[in-house]
Amino acid sequence: MDDADTTPVVPDRREWWKEAVVYQIYPRSFNDSDGDGIGDIPGVVEKVDYLDDLGVDCVWLTPVYESPQVDNGYDVSDYRAIDPTYGSMDDWERLLEELHARDIRLIMDLVVNHTSDQHVWFRRSRQGEAEYDDYYIWREAEEGYPNNWEAHFGGPTWTYDEERGEYYLHLFTPEQPDLNWENPRVREEIYDIVSWWLERGIDGFRLDVINLISKAEGLPDGDPDREGLTGSEHFVNGPRMHEYFAELAREGYGDRAGDIVAVGECAHIDPETALDVTGRESDALDMTIFFEHMELDRDDRWDEREWALTDLKAIMARWQDAVAEGAWVPLYHTSHDQPRGLSRFGDPEYRYESATMLATWLHGHRGTPFVYQGEEIGMSNVDFETPASLRDVWARNYWESERDAGAEYADVRADIERFSRDNARTPMQWDGGDHAGFTDGEPWIPVGEDYETVNVAADRESERSVFEYYRELIALRESDDVLVYGDFDLLVPDHEEIYAIHRTLAEADHDLLILCNFGDGTPTFEAPESLDTDDATVVLANREDPAADPAAVELRPYEAAIYRLF
Ligand code: GLC
Repeated sequence: MDDADTTPVVPDRREWWKEAVVYQIYPRSFNDSDGDGIGDIPGVVEKVDYLDDLGVDCVWLTPVYESPQVDNGYDVSDYRAIDPTYGSMDDWERLLEELHARDIRLIMDLVVNHTSDQHVWFRRSRQGEAEYDDYYIWREAEEGYPNNWEAHFGGPTWTYDEERGEYYLHLFTPEQPDLNWENPRVREEIYDIVSWWLERGIDGFRLDVINLISKAEGLPDGDPDREGLTGSEHFVNGPRMHEYFAELAREGYGDRAGDIVAVGECAHIDPETALDVTGRESDALDMTIFFEHMELDRDDRWDEREWALTDLKAIMARWQDAVAEGAWVPLYHTSHDQPRGLSRFGDPEYRYESATMLATWLHGHRGTPFVYQGEEIGMSNVDFETPASLRDVWARNYWESERDAGAEYADVRADIERFSRDNARTPMQWDGGDHAGFTDGEPWIPVGEDYETVNVAADRESERSVFEYYRELIALRESDDVLVYGDFDLLVPDHEEIYAIHRTLAEADHDLLILCNFGDGTPTFEAPESLDTDDATVVLANREDPAADPAAVELRPYEAAIYRLF
């Protein structure tokens, strides 16, 4: 990554993680090596060359720690052990070695807002053992719950524990009790875990819901009329958050602070807070995962909402402004918590065109692209014909509460198929064979119905390979600083079909023009007069015969192209 001799000086500080493309692996659904139907670490090791071919620079592995798997590993019962479902610590070490041997870095998920209720700390705390007494947030209640806060996956944030005779707080499921960060001993335990993993040679963390760790003093009732979860004004970006972040960086990262990357998943984050947590107020985070574009097409989680391309542009442009001011961001359209971006922002009927267009669009912004497994072959949302096919605790809770209120599955099926997190959690489609080549056993979640045509083997043999396009796009980033560090300028901001970006870097000998058609129409892009397109060259396009001069171009459905302007 040291190309300082040949490339111009850039205005932002050079960082490996700004130049990287991150690949997110949800190991449960990636590749199963032992036939139990659940993906595992040796399965990831088998695919390291695949990642290397794609050209990614860093892998983010979602949790593989010991866990009862109520929330697929986001309920950790031992932070220093690998869950036997996923393999052993030796397997994990082998993975790290194999990745590093290919210059691919590894970041681990750090889930420390809460633990599993099976963690030894919680077991001791619920028994009232003095040392662990206030490791979690316990309250008594005379009547009803200690307050009116709402949990993320539905229901109250409080569960009564018979053993202790008190309620405990959980912002997610009852099996995920929140840690009490007010307790300095809890914080020390967490920093030890952080250092322990860093000593093992990893390259950073993705920090799960990290801006929820500080709760308002006295845990007051939330305003039920406010938008969003009741109580969130008292648990999002809480009063001691920056203090904890500073301490985490000092005590946890220690002397690795400068070379690792810390990607903060920050619930309900806005650009101003993103600036605060990436350096203005505290600097434990290098970038923050934002969600505004993920909320574009829905109201209140399960209800669909109409959206316009201009809304998406406005959101992205606002975040690009924050990046310009110093708040770096991941660029993503799919994750293990979101439906498939191809189904939301593109069109699976135009799989090649829209998958590659969306890739071009995302990578065209300033930030670090995160590719979610399967995105690079154009995987899309799947059918969930019956409630029995649902796996995600959130979707199941939703269906069960609707059912209890008198609904039939047919009434909610469309919502679930549109938004369920299970959409992105179906097995990676490796080939057209049994279970898409994911497992020799029975997969823990049904395979997407299109696996015979949409799979890695078929895609890589195709003339119109999504994988190949991603490979070229990723390689382009490696060779062109304008894509990484260039200023972002949104062209034709009011156009309802065309998303056009101009990237400029004063020190470079060229600009970049990125053109994306977000629909199946054939709109014409008219370059603003200020843009000099005379010596344009196409560097990447998802059609064979892109226009040579982008001054005025009629775009094909879901067309995308990147031009160098000299
Ligand atoms: C994050 C994770 C999600 C998990 C939740 C609770 O949002 O990405 O998968 O359910 O935190 O840990």
